[in-house]
Amino acid sequence: MARREIFAGNWKMYKTHQEALDLAQGIRAWTTTGIGNREVIIFPPAPYAKAVAELCRGSRIDVGMQNMHFEQEGAFTGEVSPPMVRDCGCRYVLIGHSERRHVFGETDDDVNKKVIAAFKSDIEPVVCVGELLEEREKGLTNEVLRRQVEKAFTGIGAGRMKKVIIAYEPVWAIGTGKVATPETAEEAHGYIRKVVKNLYAADTADSLPILYGGSVKPDNIAGLFCMANIDGVLVGGASLKVDSFLEIIRVK
Ligand code: PGA
Repeated sequence: MARREIFAGNWKMYKTHQEALDLAQGIRAWTTTGIGNREVIIFPPAPYAKAVAELCRGSRIDVGMQNMHFEQEGAFTGEVSPPMVRDCGCRYVLIGHSERRHVFGETDDDVNKKVIAAFKSDIEPVVCVGELLEEREKGLTNEVLRRQVEKAFTGIGAGRMKKVIIAYEPVWAIGTGKVATPETAEEAHGYIRKVVKNLYAADTADSLPILYGGSVKPDNIAGLFCMANIDGVLVGGASLKVDSFLEIIRVK
């Protein structure tokens, strides 16, 4: 089945206001043609999300927030609520990125609450899963992926599942330059799709976009993107420059 093809850039905690606008403008300018049906999503830092979303209006680029709280509002100093994410013009939100899980202690339960909260505010979740190096070395990869997927979507019906994007990001590959081999990534993607199939149905699993993330660069994208179960990528470092991100988006 033909699935959506999605190229996402996670800018993390980089860029000034002007640099963010320049980068978004550059991507916008070069994606007006020549990308077929490919979808482009950028995740700027929260303070710039609204300005970047305004700049991208009417273009091929959608904008998302890198994180949000699961409550609608409240005394949560420093947090961003789902209605605020919407208000900023974001269609998407990244949930459970490995840096959120491992640097900020986010749990599977938090991830589930955020997925539920995203739908409540009409935001489409891009849910990140992935194993640590020690988990892979102990042969626990599938177990970890199954647990993360099952927990993330508890209480989410098949209808909503059609709006979900999953990103497989092995923690050992993020920001390390150690990209997973296409075969290793493909195996994990196939397994994630199988878990979703067991939870929902074959058509839900077949249409689910699963992105790979972790040291994606212009020189390794071709090998990854040609794999059957890799429907796009979530790019960190290489999405911070127009040229390298575009080279990735335009992979043959
Ligand atoms: P990287 O980051 O491409 O810099 O490894 C990927 C991510 O964290 O989403």
